[in-house]
This record gives sequence, structure tokens and C-alpha cells, in this order.
Amino acid sequence: MCGIFAYINHLTPKTRREILELLVNGLKRLEYRGYDSAGVAIDAADQKDIAVVKKSGKVAALEELLQEQSGDLAVDDSVESHCGIAHTRWATHGEPSAINSHPQRSGEDNSFVVIHNGIITNYKEVKTFLENKGYIFESQTDTEAIAKLVDHIYAQHKDYSFQELVEQVIQQLEGAFALCFKSRFFPNECVATRRGSPLLVGIKTRRRLSSDHVPIMYTNNKATRGVVPSVPRVNSHAHFEPEEERDVEYFFASDASAVIEHTNKVLYFEDDDVAHIKDGVLSIHRMSGSSTDPHQREIFTLKLELQQIMKGNYDYFMQKEIFEQSESIVNTMRGRLNFANGTVTLGGIKDYIPEIKRCRRLMLIGCGTSYHSAVATRQLLEELTELPVMVELASDFLDRNTPVFRDDVCFFISQSGETADTLMALRYCKRHGALIVGITNTVGSSICRESHCGVHINAGPEIGVASTKAYTSQFVSLVMFALVISEDRISLQKRRADIIEGLHELDVKIRQVLALDDKVKALAEDLYQQRSLLIMGRGYNFSTCLEGALKVKELTYMHSEGIMAGELKHGPLALIDDSMPVMMIVMRDPVYVKCMNALQQVNARQGRPIVVCEEGDTETMSLASRVLEVPKTVDCLQGVLTVIPMQLLAYHIAVLRGCNVDCPRNLAKSVTVE
Ligand code: F6R
Repeated sequence: MCGIFAYINHLTPKTRREILELLVNGLKRLEYRGYDSAGVAIDAADQKDIAVVKKSGKVAALEELLQEQSGDLAVDDSVESHCGIAHTRWATHGEPSAINSHPQRSGEDNSFVVIHNGIITNYKEVKTFLENKGYIFESQTDTEAIAKLVDHIYAQHKDYSFQELVEQVIQQLEGAFALCFKSRFFPNECVATRRGSPLLVGIKTRRRLSSDHVPIMYTNNKATRGVVPSVPRVNSHAHFEPEEERDVEYFFASDASAVIEHTNKVLYFEDDDVAHIKDGVLSIHRMSGSSTDPHQREIFTLKLELQQIMKGNYDYFMQKEIFEQSESIVNTMRGRLNFANGTVTLGGIKDYIPEIKRCRRLMLIGCGTSYHSAVATRQLLEELTELPVMVELASDFLDRNTPVFRDDVCFFISQSGETADTLMALRYCKRHGALIVGITNTVGSSICRESHCGVHINAGPEIGVASTKAYTSQFVSLVMFALVISEDRISLQKRRADIIEGLHELDVKIRQVLALDDKVKALAEDLYQQRSLLIMGRGYNFSTCLEGALKVKELTYMHSEGIMAGELKHGPLALIDDSMPVMMIVMRDPVYVKCMNALQQVNARQGRPIVVCEEGDTETMSLASRVLEVPKTVDCLQGVLTVIPMQLLAYHIAVLRGCNVDCPRNLAKSVTVE
């Protein structure tokens, strides 16, 4: 949901051309976060003003415009510029257009420009206040109010540093934001801050400096609303000698994929941190910390490799991510599952196991695909933990003010670790004293940081907006959790051993399913002009129906519905005739006979079901108009295999319909607004 990228250096020479290329490249890495418009701001050729270039459409359109304007922008190889900010947008306020894209500006002279990820909920009040002061707004965005507010404060307090101005601004803002500011009054400086939206800084030193030598300065004070707090600042290192220590390049970004090609050293900001880069020094002012808070932000070393975020030989990221699943689930289990002795260790929650075993109930909370992974594993969790398990959509959970108790254990499942609904549900449960367990794919994300303990699913970066490999890794992580909790249950040992064996063979079986690709493509060729697709199943495979239908909807814009086969006769049967495309998942598991009944009923209404069944199951195949055979595994893991044909089907239909597979319309990878 919007991507922020900014670059600032001090001594390292860079040409304007290089800086612009770097900004555009950073945006391309973030484009999956939002892709309806993009923009950059860099110092103008005379170094006195700021040049802003914006364009609606994808980053490639902005890149083209920058090339056209290269004369005006003096994009040659001689002039150096030190600071540029860039943004790719997913519209929340105001339609996608150049005027509504970011950077937003304080006025025609571009005195202050700002890029923003998030939503300012009180922007109307701020806007009205500024309009009364004579400011004229040009866009429909909430962000423009921020650009004008900083200008207004500057007009009153010319003696403030850039950082102090931004501190003032954010004290007036409500909502969620990650912001990055640039100003012609503060050339070669950049200020960034966050509250509720992710932001990190990548740090690249030319000399091999240890983290201790990165020129970072920390200050604190208590935030107050309204007027500038005049609490004295506490500096941990005010001077950096020798000067070469400031030969550092900094990259502000919404996520690590944009900085990994430059550096693997990153620092994640906390809410209300205000970061200021000037003369090669990064100072972090902690608005919400106390003046005695000794905590310094940790510099993380990323394990991400650039090739992990490149498409390789695939046409789309999503396609690559579908095919990676035989490896990504192995990475999820690596170092945790010992197949030789049947033990499972989840280091991130180890210390909390006794508390979890004593809990009143487990609550699994997430949105979209992450929620489906909870649906997929609920039955196994109930069976192996013998605890009540509630599965909740984060938004609905909050709407209901669901009762939560101190002895509840609440799981927050999120690929990005930043989804606003999930994060808010987490905070709600934390306030009620529950134990918070994060299941995420993004180290350093808000959900990771705010959980008491957690499991990192290790699926690797997922760039395609539609989630695929994160789903199967969430699934496997929750299965491993169930195995951990049931470790000492004698009566469950046989069941556990079967599941562990199933997990052991899962990668090979995933590869067998992926080999169905051509068959699925042929099916897609038959289906792609249809208006609707129903997907039915029950038991362990119901989640595949929900997830398959979500993939079809979001990628192909076709109507699709996941239907619980047990509900067929309570309504959906009315939809069945010889022209309605229906898929049914019928596996030889405890609900096989019931699924066969549903299949018979569909046939009795002249339906022409496309069946996903076990390899060699001729009895089931005899009732199908078309068949996709998948290998058999343990019942509770079967959903990992049955979902893959659905992912492939949605992918191929999307390609045939000419849809943008990696960036479906109106969607964003990380939904950081409610
Ligand atoms: C669908 C999809 C979304 C996300 C949902 C939650 O393909 O990706 O439904 O699953 O927006 O996102 P995370 O998992 O990042 O919390």
C-alpha cells in the first residue's frame, strides 16, 4: 500500500543521472505495494529549488517521462545531487492522477515536498485550518495537508531545524503514516517518520564500519500535542570523527526489497521515531521515548538475496512464487522439524509453550489469504491441541468487540506483518492481556515487533500481490505448531508420526502437482471467457475453495465463490445447470462420502463438474466432466496440494484475459489502512 523510497548521501559522489536511476529502480522494487501513479523529487539543476516529476500509471510511465525531461532535469554525468525522494501510490484519497500522486507540495515553489504511505484521518480539519490561513489546495489527497502544514509551521518558526518542524507536524496528525520530507530550505537533508505504517533505513558504508560506527545519534523527549516541546535533547554521539565516518549512503524505504541491492544493513523505525539525515549523520529522535530511555534501534543484517526478488526465467513473480513452493515449504520446516526422531522445535515460541498449553482457547486472526490458512488448519489444531480454536477475520473481530481474556492465546497471521486490521486486532488483544503470537513472513514488521513471541514462516519475499507461497508456508507453520503442542500426548503419537512423514514428502508431492501446469493451462483455455466459477469442497479442503475463489477473483476479475459442499442444498444448488462452471475437490478423507453425495447432486442438475481428486481414483473420476489428479497425502496436509492447481488456474486465466498478474487492479500487497 504505497511505496516510499528515498536516497541521501554525503561524501559518496553520485551524478544526478545515477540518483534518478536509483530512485526509479527503488520504486520498481516497491511497485507491488501500489501502482496507480508514481513520482520523484530531487534538487533542481540550480541546486536551489526542488524538481518534482509525477505521472499517473506505473513506474515505467514515470521513467519515460523522466527521460523526456532529462534536459530540464540536467540529467548529465557531472552535477551531483545528494537527496531524492520517490513514491509509488495506491490511491486512498483522490483518484489516480498526476496531481494526486506524490510527492505532494507546500506550494508552487516546492518549498516542502512530502511522500506518504497511510491515511491521515483528521486531514479535513487540518486542511480547513490551512485554507483559513490562505493555503490553496490543488489535489484531493490527505497528504497535501501535511506538505502545507510543515510550510505553515516553518513560516512561524524559521529557527527550527528540519527535524523539529516534522516533529511539530506529526503531533497534529491522526491516523497512520510513513512520511519522508524534503525542503529547499534544507538542501541535502531528509527527514522521515512513521506511525502505524512501515519504514526502515538502509545504511551503506563505503568503509567496512561496524554497526557501532555508523554515525547515528539518538535523542528523546515526551511527545506533547500542540506546541513544540522544549525538553532538552539527549545526544549519545554528537560528533563523528574522522569525517570519513560520515561517508555513508542512506535509503529510506517501506520495505527491505528496495534496499537489498545496495546494502543488507537496515534499521526499522518504531512509531513516532523522527529520523533526520544531515551531513552524513542519521539522528533518530524518539518522540514517544523518555529522556532516560537507553534503547537504541538495532541494526539488522538482512539475509535476503537480490535474486530472491528477481523474476528469473518466469514471466511473472506470482508464477515464480507458485513454482517455488516445493522449496519454500522446506525453508519453513528447516531447522525445526527433525524427521529422524520426529521432534519439532519452534524456537520463537519455545519459552511460551507451557503457557500456551494452559490457555483457555486459541484464536487465529488474519485477513484474506492469511485468514484462509487459519481455516485450513483449524481442524488439526482442535484435534492435536484439544483446545477450542476460534478463527477470525481481523476486521469482523474488531467490529464485534470480541471478548478476549488474559488466558487466551491469539495468533496473528500475516504475510506482510503490516496489515492494519490484523495489527489493530493484535493491539486490542494485547490490551486485554492475551498472549500474542505472530506468524509472519517479514522480519522486523510491526506484527513481529509487537508480538510476545512468534514463528517466522521463512517463505522468502513474496512480490506478486496475490499471496501463494506465503499461504502454504503459513499452513505448514500452523501444522508444526499443532505438532509441538501435542508432543507429549501418547495417544496422538501415531497421528503425529503420519503427519511428520507427510511433511517430509510434501516437497516431492508439490513438484508432482506443479507438473500439472499444462493440464491446468488447457483447463484455463476452456474457462477464461466464463463469467463465474464455483469451487466446492468440505472438511480439510474447504479452505482450498475459499482460497481458490479469492485467487480467481483478484487475478482474473471473474466472479468466483468458494462453497462449503455441506451447504449446497441450502441454496447454492440453485446456481447449478449445464452452463455454470463448477469445480469440486473430492479427496479420500473422512468427508469423502459426503463430497460424493454433493458431486451426485451436481450431476443430477446437469452440472458438469471439474473434479480435483486423488491419483487413480476412478470411482470419483467417473462422475467428473474433467479431472485434475493430485497425489495423496495425510488428510490434514492435503490442502497444501489441492490449492496449487487453483493458484495455477487463476494465474493462467489471468494471463489469457490479459490481466496484470502481479499487480491486480485496485489491490496492494500490504494493506496498511483499515
Ligand atoms: C490475497 C492476498 C490478501 C492478503 C491480505 C492479508 O492474495 O494476498 O488477501 O492475504 O491482504 O495480508 P497479510 O497476509 O500481509 O496480512
